Amino acid sequence: MICPFPRPPARAPDPTARPTYTSTFVAARTVADVMSSPVLTATSSATLADAASRMNEGRVGSVVVVDGGRPIGILTERDLVRFAAAGHDPTATKVSEWMTEAPHTVSPDASLTEAWDTLAEKGYRHIPVVADGQLVGIVSLRDLVRIAQLLPVDDGRAGTLEAPRGLEGVIVAETEVGDVRGQEGFYHYRQYNAVELADKRSLEDVWRLLFDGELPTGAAERDAFMDEVRPLRIVPDAVRPLLPQIAAAGRAQDRGLLDGLRTAVSAVAQSQAFQPSLDVDAATLRDNALRVCAVTPTLIAALFRLSQGLDPIEPHPDLGYAANYLYMISGDVPEPERARGVEQYQITTIDHGFNASTFTARVITSTGADVGAAVVGAIGALSGPLHGGAPSRALDMLDAIGTPDNAEPWIRHAVETGGRIMGFGHRVYKTDDPRSVFMRTVAERLGGDKVAFAKQVERTVVEVLADLKPGRHLYANVEFYAGVVMYRCGLPRQMFTPTFASSRVIGWCANILEQSADNRIIRPSARYVGPPPPQPVPTVAVPSS
Ligand code: ACO
Repeated sequence: MICPFPRPPARAPDPTARPTYTSTFVAARTVADVMSSPVLTATSSATLADAASRMNEGRVGSVVVVDGGRPIGILTERDLVRFAAAGHDPTATKVSEWMTEAPHTVSPDASLTEAWDTLAEKGYRHIPVVADGQLVGIVSLRDLVRIAQLLPVDDGRAGTLEAPRGLEGVIVAETEVGDVRGQEGFYHYRQYNAVELADKRSLEDVWRLLFDGELPTGAAERDAFMDEVRPLRIVPDAVRPLLPQIAAAGRAQDRGLLDGLRTAVSAVAQSQAFQPSLDVDAATLRDNALRVCAVTPTLIAALFRLSQGLDPIEPHPDLGYAANYLYMISGDVPEPERARGVEQYQITTIDHGFNASTFTARVITSTGADVGAAVVGAIGALSGPLHGGAPSRALDMLDAIGTPDNAEPWIRHAVETGGRIMGFGHRVYKTDDPRSVFMRTVAERLGGDKVAFAKQVERTVVEVLADLKPGRHLYANVEFYAGVVMYRCGLPRQMFTPTFASSRVIGWCANILEQSADNRIIRPSARYVGPPPPQPVPTVAVPSS
């Protein structure tokens, strides 16, 4: 039994309210959501030279002075500037002489508005976060600005708001599909813990939850959903003859399968005469979305087999999503534990907040375009190595490292020469990615030659990144163990990102349905930074004679 966690109370929209992005966003969160932890600390007897060098190394603007875990003072960059101006010797001066004693603190449960007000009122830049008298974190003005994200810009364009690069932290819509809580390492589909769903439910159950808002309550509802999906898995007649050509075009390149999927989905949408989302009712849009999701695994498997010179295999009427997917690839009914491994990976990756491909799907839907157009665009966004293209690269990295001894120098060299370690880091998670933690348990359950080595490499990467990129909070993301799991389940590397697409398509479509149900075209602005154009010359309309 999966227990839903309580939903926040629904807010009644006020039709007359103008959006006040900063205040509504800040009010919705607590200090625990944004604070940094662990905190850089010092004792009051440490020297200022020592404290300053540690602040520099940790790239932080303050150090909290503690006595047995209890904050008794704070030393900030500002104190160091004042000290430098006084011209004393930092190696002979104690922290206690320049720190601010008994600093203001906040509790982790305090609202961000409260933290914001304290910083603004007192002119502080950092406040220690204290629970039961013990230091548990620190929240800075920068954390709050990052979380508020939308700042008024005084550039003469009244009402303009500026968002940070990469739209980090910006809330652009309200959704009931799911959410990611980066500081807690938690994500959910509707009101259910996503990892628990992956542990206990079938993919079809979760699919129904995302499309229709509820898990099936029993066999009858489950069967009804399967009956609806089963015929839609078959590739439409008009598309079948195109697949060999699409597969042949992709054979020449590495990423051929995903590119082929993009073309094939486009052909399915066209063959079924999908109409613009603006022009169809909710039931028709749901039908279109269901068809795209159902046929996607069939298209991927068919393109793969054709690229290997093999004939496509029809869907197996008695197998579920993952088992049928593996069956259509190999022609054999898969062993249950392998099918379950792939299914758990697929459930884990169905949806994940406003990631790049989901956002792309929503932007395209916001124009009123059809479901096919939105999914094709989303596949394009997913194909990038910074998003969906990482799992095969993560496995390539394990191969390149080769032996445990080589891990540390290999990773250090890669990062020092500006490389990115594939399968690590995440925009939202600043702690363990729960998908990665879960995939690691799936990998352990499945066993195999790569698991122990992958765990060693994971530990080394986290240590090296903490050393070379301090304060960035870089941990394994879903892609790292995904490659290990898919490899163990017999999927070839060129299938990794398409397999990601085979489940994320369900999340895209749930978002497409939601966007369409309450739509306003997504049309932001950019700041022009090129050479200045000539001043506009007022024109006077000349009446034609
Ligand atoms: N390896 C080395 N350094 C990294 C990594 C990494 N994997 N990830 C982030 N960093 C560093 C950056 O170099 C940067 O350092 P700097 O401050 O010295 O410039 C800092 O951490 C912040 O990096 P950003 O690019 O600003 O982080 P962002 O949130 O924009 O990017 C991303 C997130 C794209 C996932 C990034 O961590 C990355 O490139 N990871 C590797 C690719 C990957 O695994 N992608 C799959 C993501 S999961 C998914 O999409 C399903």
